[in-house]
Amino acid sequence: MSFLEVEIERILPGGFGLAHAAGHTVFVSLAAPGDRLRVRVERQQGNVLFASIEEILVASPERIEPPCPYFGRCGGCDFQQLTYEKQLAAKAEIIRDCLHRIARLEQVPDVVVTPSPREWRYRMRATWQIDRGEQTIGYYERGSRRVCDVADCAVLVPQLEETLERVRATDWQEFPPALQHLDVVAGENNVSLAPPFAEFETAELELKIGAEVYHYSAEAFFQVNPGLLAPLIEFALADATGEAAMDLYCGVGLFTLPLARRFAEVTGVEGNPVAVQFARHNLQRAGLENVRIVNAGVAEWIRRGALQTDFVLLDPPRAGAESAVITGIVDSRAKRVTYVSCDPATLARDLRKLFAGGYVLESLLAFDLFPQTHHVETVVRLVTKKHKI
Ligand SMILES: C[S@@+](CC[C@H](N)C(=O)[O-])C[C@H]1O[C@@H](n2cnc3c(N)ncnc32)[C@H](O)[C@@H]1O
Repeated sequence: MSFLEVEIERILPGGFGLAHAAGHTVFVSLAAPGDRLRVRVERQQGNVLFASIEEILVASPERIEPPCPYFGRCGGCDFQQLTYEKQLAAKAEIIRDCLHRIARLEQVPDVVVTPSPREWRYRMRATWQIDRGEQTIGYYERGSRRVCDVADCAVLVPQLEETLERVRATDWQEFPPALQHLDVVAGENNVSLAPPFAEFETAELELKIGAEVYHYSAEAFFQVNPGLLAPLIEFALADATGEAAMDLYCGVGLFTLPLARRFAEVTGVEGNPVAVQFARHNLQRAGLENVRIVNAGVAEWIRRGALQTDFVLLDPPRAGAESAVITGIVDSRAKRVTYVSCDPATLARDLRKLFAGGYVLESLLAFDLFPQTHHVETVVRLVTKKHKI
């Protein structure tokens, strides 16, 4: 084990503080730009040393006291040491860095990160890890698979915090023997847990976003921060209209419903059969009959036949889109593409291929769906070179 003294230069994708010392690049967890730190080297990967803070020698002016008692041990939040303003600035820098270094964009535009209406108590979806042996419930500890026992999670919406307290008060005899984690999500008037157990049900929930009503449950993906979804959808779709649109990785139809009001025909593609059922149900309840929801892996579905569309919206999971998906979009020559992403690094990897395939950046806006963490949602609108005004 070795120790180093370092000064943090800036925050990198992944949320690490960057420093240089003893001929190495050093990635420091939970740091603030300007901190002077004594750090403990945890591991080495090539020339990069991964380190944790042993002692704060001189605190950055951007550093604040993290309010959560679990901060540092719990693997959930990694930005509580930064003022909210600095969190937003760090996220803008992370996106710029990825666009420049990974997407190889020569002229990186100004990046604006829309703040969350709530910095705390915003999260309406979570996964709680369970350790029956230790009788602990919470989130994995930082860099480990041990469960950090969390009684109060300050980013959860009040309904979920109250549910966490009820789950924790349940007799351990009532927990299914093989239960390792619980998926939980809140709606307007209820919460849904998967798998169901004791008094807790996988309830069907309802939430109104903008003009649309969505039904979903803990068995399907739903976005974590409802406060920013209406402006996110508005920016993603802007004034798009036309004959045909595709909503790839469509979930329960967050973008599919508003797309169906703007395009003559819409196709949504989604891998999770529960999400597919909800998407069909949501469209039916909204009286929208011009949509086909396909239950398939997006790459497999694209391999079956060429995309023919004016507009593509894709919102893949953190790993980004498979290469076949990007190739399919380029080959489709869709006039406009909107890429919604929760990981700037995989977004930038995919954008590089889309730029090489003839798309150019029209506009970009980020949304802070995940305060107190380094995560950020980025929405990029692309047009073909031919259609750039
Ligand atoms: C980030 S979520 C977006 C969902 C939806 N657009 C929304 O905003 O609510 C990604 C979705 O892609 C689905 N998914 C993940 N991998 C997939 C794949 N290879 N093919 C099809 N769907 C996939 C997940 O089930 C999830 O619903």
